[in-house]
Amino acid sequence: MKLIENIAQLATCRAEGGQSEVHAVADAAMVWEGDTIRWVGPRRELPAEYQGAERLDAGGRLVVPGLVDCHTHLAFGGWRADEFTQRIEGAGYLEIARAGGGIARTVRLTREAGEEALYRRARAFVREMVALGVTTIECKSGYGLDREHELKLLRVYRRLAESEPVGIVPTFLGAHVVPPEYRERREAYVALLVDQLIPEVAARRLATYCDVFVEESAFSVEEGRRILLAGQAAGLASRLHADQLTSCGGAELAAEVGALSADHLEQVSDRGIAAMAESGVVAVSLPIASLYLGSTAMPARRLIGAGVGVAVATDFNPGSAPSYHLPFAMTLACTLQRMTPAESLKGATFFAAKALGLEQRVGSLEAGKAADIALMDAPDLQTWLYHLRPNACLLTVARGRIVWQAPDRRESGELA
Ligand code: NIG
Ligand code: FE
Repeated sequence: MKLIENIAQLATCRAEGGQSEVHAVADAAMVWEGDTIRWVGPRRELPAEYQGAERLDAGGRLVVPGLVDCHTHLAFGGWRADEFTQRIEGAGYLEIARAGGGIARTVRLTREAGEEALYRRARAFVREMVALGVTTIECKSGYGLDREHELKLLRVYRRLAESEPVGIVPTFLGAHVVPPEYRERREAYVALLVDQLIPEVAARRLATYCDVFVEESAFSVEEGRRILLAGQAAGLASRLHADQLTSCGGAELAAEVGALSADHLEQVSDRGIAAMAESGVVAVSLPIASLYLGSTAMPARRLIGAGVGVAVATDFNPGSAPSYHLPFAMTLACTLQRMTPAESLKGATFFAAKALGLEQRVGSLEAGKAADIALMDAPDLQTWLYHLRPNACLLTVARGRIVWQAPDRRESGELA
């Protein structure tokens, strides 16, 4: 049994109260046993039975639920730093893609990369994310785009799930773009996804979700519907890249098929927002991608106002979002999307868990939930997200185990 106490503020982030209510507890304590939380509340109310638990001192700081990054493209070959410069000089994201860059270029580099090299690189990313306080990571395939290389990426995620002490949840994104070799026969690629790859990925239990990039430059609403329904028939829950570059009905499709989430939504229509609210689809905002592409951010206030839950994630990928820094994305959600720090935190915890269908287990600090916590070097939530630092996380606990401690804290012995 473990007890963390001397917590200036503990944000439980439980479901009730919507986006802005994080249910903060002042001068708090929390008890866990094994991988599960037993008790959370004001320190003075700690039940006698827990008094003897092994103690950790939070040092008068902020404790939040282990962060949930519900949208990443974690494993890929190479980088695309030159495209970063080209976009700054005025080239468009799609213009670069048409010239052979963009997603297709990462596909080439990913196909060339060995499975072991991809695994080691992705593992290094995971460990840095854990040091930032992240304890659950959704990971998409989508840079293989053929049987051999999509399965290779999904096997990398399976290995990470086995080797790393945090939650790794895989998504099949075979429908990222139509690969170059199918450009003249896209129908055959959609058929390959629907008839072969989706059933095989599901049967091998290599993915939990099926994702489609619905966009003029990727897949149409009709193609997306076919692919997502094939995923559902095989047992894969749906999620979408929707309305990122153009308003093309992605949010409406997410609502129609009962997707867990619609992600991006920079160009979402009013009809799309209403449909999402009606069917309970979570909107996943990816403000790092908006920042890097210089696009208007997702209209988070309109979505929240309509009753849609908004999650915040990184979209970590080598093109539009080359950063896995979720606290940075959370600060951007505040500044670019006018979400309050409380709304942003609920977005990277409870609503991110909901976007993955995992809210019964992770994303909030409540008795019976996973003992996933992050201790931040700040007295409260608003100070943490206001003062952006390389890393404010002093301690990460995942499934009850300490998986990260800032070096100076380790030396001070305060947490040992
Ligand atoms: O989520 N929108 C599509 N896919 C990625 C970008 C991937 C890339 O540029 O490599 C995204 O932003
Ligand atoms: Fe993405």
